[in-house]
Amino acid sequence: MSTNITWHEGSVSLAERQTLLNQKGFTLWFTGLSASGKSTLASALEQTLLHAGVNAYRLDGDNIRFGLNKNLGFGPDDRTENIRRISEVAKLFADATVIAITAFISPYRADRDTARALHQAANIPFIEVYADAPLSVVEERDPKGLYKKAKAGEIKEFTGISAPYEAPENAEIHIKTHEGTVEQGVQQILDYLVKNNLLTADQIVKKN
Ligand SMILES: Nc1ncnc2c1ncn2[C@@H]1O[C@H](COP(=O)(O)OP(=O)(O)OP(=O)(O)O)[C@@H](O)[C@H]1O
Ligand SMILES: [Mg+2]
Repeated sequence: MSTNITWHEGSVSLAERQTLLNQKGFTLWFTGLSASGKSTLASALEQTLLHAGVNAYRLDGDNIRFGLNKNLGFGPDDRTENIRRISEVAKLFADATVIAITAFISPYRADRDTARALHQAANIPFIEVYADAPLSVVEERDPKGLYKKAKAGEIKEFTGISAPYEAPENAEIHIKTHEGTVEQGVQQILDYLVKNNLLTADQIVKKN
């Protein structure tokens, strides 16, 4: 635990920063089973936003485990620490007026609630996006062959097979990825953001 530390306030407030950079930062927190479509939607959304000139940055599960979280495994404590660190990093991006897009299974409701609370305390919007598809569908997709391995007992603590997934009860955005296309999922998110004044309709027009 760190002691003898003091927060040093900057000279530019969050509101002033947003005005100067003409962008609001917030976190879009994807959750869902493996192969539910989190990374696919997150990267399609990031691409759309960047081509509209909106600064967005994706924090993706496996990628983060190559670096920042390379010392963490998949047991409950490490999963919790994984999410805690991502929450803090997403919050920093959002505080810098970037749209942080996280794509982690984040199976525990309590961990997602912690991420939300941390953002709320900093006055930064937190939008939970549930990438939802039934287990039968994601097992069938199995783009990384992980369900096959998990069912053969080759991967321990695999969400949906040998580890729990606690589905969101009140996600701001609920996308049923087995019922629509990736483009429709991205549009559903953009519609939500415009409706809730996080982006303007002008901001999301393709410019590049
Ligand atoms: N409407 C849709 N939205 C998103 N993905 C879809 C959709 N329809 C089909 N798919 C397919 O589902 C798969 C989703 O895989 P993806 O890697 O995005 O999942 P993930 O949730 O990031 O999984 P993991 O937790 O293992 O990283 C892809 O093969 C994608 O093409
Ligand atoms: Mg992924």
